[in-house]
Amino acid sequence: MTLRHLLADDDLSPAEQGAVLDRALALKADPFSDRCLAGPQVVAVLFDKPTLRTQLAFATGIAQLGGHPLVVDGNLAQVGVRESIADVTRVLTRQVAAIVWRTFGQDRIVEMSRYATVPVVNALTDDYHPCQILADLMTIREHRGDLAGLTLAYVGDGANNMAHSYLLGAALAGMHVRVGTPSAYQPKPEILARARAIAATTGGSVLITDDPVAAVTGADAVATDRWVSMGQEAESGDRKGEAGPFAPYAVSPELMAHAAADAVFLHCLPAYRGCEVDAAVIDGPQSVVWDEAENRLHAQKAVLSFLLEQSRADS
Ligand code: NVA
Repeated sequence: MTLRHLLADDDLSPAEQGAVLDRALALKADPFSDRCLAGPQVVAVLFDKPTLRTQLAFATGIAQLGGHPLVVDGNLAQVGVRESIADVTRVLTRQVAAIVWRTFGQDRIVEMSRYATVPVVNALTDDYHPCQILADLMTIREHRGDLAGLTLAYVGDGANNMAHSYLLGAALAGMHVRVGTPSAYQPKPEILARARAIAATTGGSVLITDDPVAAVTGADAVATDRWVSMGQEAESGDRKGEAGPFAPYAVSPELMAHAAADAVFLHCLPAYRGCEVDAAVIDGPQSVVWDEAENRLHAQKAVLSFLLEQSRADS
């Protein structure tokens, strides 16, 4: 049996990513056409960090697939504290069809995957947010057509989970991905190297720059993220504010004007108007953030459906 997980964006091949996006678009058009969790089978969805969209989309999506979402508050389960990741996984995996986990270190979800006999899905770690990137790519595809050859610019914290997942996910899609970030907030070299290697096979490209205008110029999609990620609250004072490192990367109408005339604006949310994005941009005509938030539902259903199908196919 080939058990399939989505722990990082590049657990999918370029062709598989395209197939998941096709499936997500089909599910959006016909939400109850896939009943892969009929029974209902249970999917455990664990959160060690705050959530709104991810919990909503998995709970709704699992129900629409015919299953039942068991949402577990990490404060109650205390995975790795009250009992080991291995033991928690051994218990869950006997009863559920899949496990979804939002946690801190990537090492934690990798360890879970070693003990799981059902698919494990990364619902955000410190390093990656693959479900979000699939929703973003789906949104760009809806608004701008085929992804290959398009340019995606991400400006802000280049060392966070969104930056890493944009690098990998957009490279898989054959896009030209640019990250505009201060030199002190570079992506992890190992992840950057993976993105460059993928881009070399898909016709995409990767550019890292500390110049926000260079990052955005001519881009088909412009994205940003909050400057203080979950788990970084203690660094908040150093990261925020007009004198902070990310201030030049705020998406203002002036910065957006350097992008293509029909560029779309993306933000994974929650957004802080007046920090990483101006209200005029996120609430303006180029913003597709509400489509993007809805598409979490369709993309996450497609991920679960795909992983379950693949894992069953060889079992
Ligand atoms: N980088 C952000 C993404 C939130 C969806 C965080 O980790 O908090």
